[in-house]
Amino acid sequence: MMHDRPTSAASFFDAKYRDRVDPWDFETDPYECARYGSVLTYVDPLRHRRVFEPGCSIGVLTEQLARQCDTVHATDISPIAVQRTRDRCSAYPGVTVSIGGVIPHPGELFDLVVFSEIGYYLDEDALAVAVGAIPASVAPRGRFLAAHWIGYSPDHILHGFEVHRVLHRVFAGWTHRVHDVHVDRRRDGFVIDVWDCE
Ligand SMILES: C[S@@+](CC[C@H](N)C(=O)[O-])C[C@H]1O[C@@H](n2cnc3c(N)ncnc32)[C@H](O)[C@@H]1O
Repeated sequence: MMHDRPTSAASFFDAKYRDRVDPWDFETDPYECARYGSVLTYVDPLRHRRVFEPGCSIGVLTEQLARQCDTVHATDISPIAVQRTRDRCSAYPGVTVSIGGVIPHPGELFDLVVFSEIGYYLDEDALAVAVGAIPASVAPRGRFLAAHWIGYSPDHILHGFEVHRVLHRVFAGWTHRVHDVHVDRRRDGFVIDVWDCE
C-alpha cells in the first residue's frame, strides 16, 4: 500500500535537523555508540572496500566506515544532513556524500551496503522496490548489512522487524549470515541481519 506520509519528504527531516544538530544523539548516546560497534563487527576492511550507506544522517557511522574502508558513498534525502556529513568526513578523501535515496546510481558497484535505520520511513511496497534495486550495484561476494531499532515511533511507517521481513524476501537468494537481536531495557534495542552475495 502506498502512503503519502511526511516521512517520505526531505522537509520532514530538514525540520528535525534545523531543530537539533543531532536529533537522535548519534554522537553522544552510549547506546548508539554500542550499536555502531555491533554494525562494524560485520565489516571486513579487506573485503568491503567500497561502501554504500543510504540515509547517512549527520555521518557518525559514515566516519567510522571511512576509517576502515577505501571509499564510502553516503546519501541522505535531507540536504542539511548531507552538509553535516560532508563537514564531518572532510578529512577522508574516499568519502562522497550526495543528496539522494536508497538506490545507487546505475554503474556504481559496492562491496558493502549498510542499511541502517532508514527502512521504516518507507512503506512496504516502496521499500521492496527500492531495496530490490540494490543487488544490481553489489559486487560478487558483496554484503548487505541491515540494522534497525525495534522500538515504536510515530515517525515510522514500518516497525524494524517488518523492515527486516521485507529484506528477507528481497535477499532470499543470498546467503543469510547473521540474525542478531540486541535487546536494551532502556532503548528497546535493534536487529541486525547480514546477507552475502555469493
Ligand atoms: C534515523 S537516521 C539514520 C542514520 C544512520 N543511518 C545511522 O544508522 O546512524 C534516518 C536518516 O534517513 C534519512 N532518510 C529517510 N528516508 C530516506 C530516503 N528515502 N532516502 C535517503 N535518506 C532517507 C533521513 O533524512 C535521516 O537522516
